[in-house]
Amino acid sequence: MDDSSHHPNGIQLDRVVFFGRTLSEYVKFFNLDLSHWQSSKILDCPSGAASFVAEACQMGIHAVACDLLFHLDTKVIIEKGNADYNHVVERISLVPHLYNWEVYGGIEGFKEYRKTAFQRFAADYENGKAQGRYIPVELPKLPFADKSFDLVLSGHFLFVYSDEFNYTFHLNTILELYRVCSKEVRIYPLHGKDAKIYPLMNHLINDLNSLEISTEIVEVPWEFQKGSHQMLQLIR
Ligand SMILES: C[S@@+](CC[C@H](N)C(=O)[O-])C[C@H]1O[C@@H](n2cnc3c(N)ncnc32)[C@H](O)[C@@H]1O
Repeated sequence: MDDSSHHPNGIQLDRVVFFGRTLSEYVKFFNLDLSHWQSSKILDCPSGAASFVAEACQMGIHAVACDLLFHLDTKVIIEKGNADYNHVVERISLVPHLYNWEVYGGIEGFKEYRKTAFQRFAADYENGKAQGRYIPVELPKLPFADKSFDLVLSGHFLFVYSDEFNYTFHLNTILELYRVCSKEVRIYPLHGKDAKIYPLMNHLINDLNSLEISTEIVEVPWEFQKGSHQMLQLIR
């Protein structure tokens, strides 16, 4: 049964939220074997308040985070993260049937994961920024040379906000992620806030393939939002 039929509009968010997940969640929804990428350069784009980069760096992986908001100082970005956390928790509570809560052991578990990610991100932000680990960007442009990164990860932005960003933005952003990448781009999820797959997915894949970019839709061991158990992979 398609549970989204209970709430055809899905989760209602007022804005692109400054929100993020932990490395252990990234490992699942990007189907990542980090031992394979140990001596690689990884870009997380846009990373929001995720702690993937902070945690990966602690494991000795060269990882870089970028986001529209990384020009902000620590105090302001923490206020923004707290406000958006409250916004998501309030709105997700209105559409609980769209999610598999057992993934987190219920909403309290979900909140704990979100707080952990945010705390790890916030603890790393100031030093990491000074070390060039948190870079302000405005997609669809990136300030990196061609093939600067082995692996590029893009979570919970593309396709999710397709009511706010048009097809051209999606295509140009994906081409830019591909330009700065030497091996693989992984994008998750394929669904929007309405819990439906991106309506122009076939069109997008055709456009990428016609530019001789190999694409694959890959099953991942993660399904918090019901139906969101696949990622899009671009392979060089
Ligand atoms: C939900 S967060 C990303 C979450 C994270 N990747 C994860 O999977 O946990 C979405 C981010 O996109 C950023 N963003 C919105 N528009 C952008 C743009 N044009 N360029 C770069 N980042 C943008 C927002 O600031 C926000 O932090």
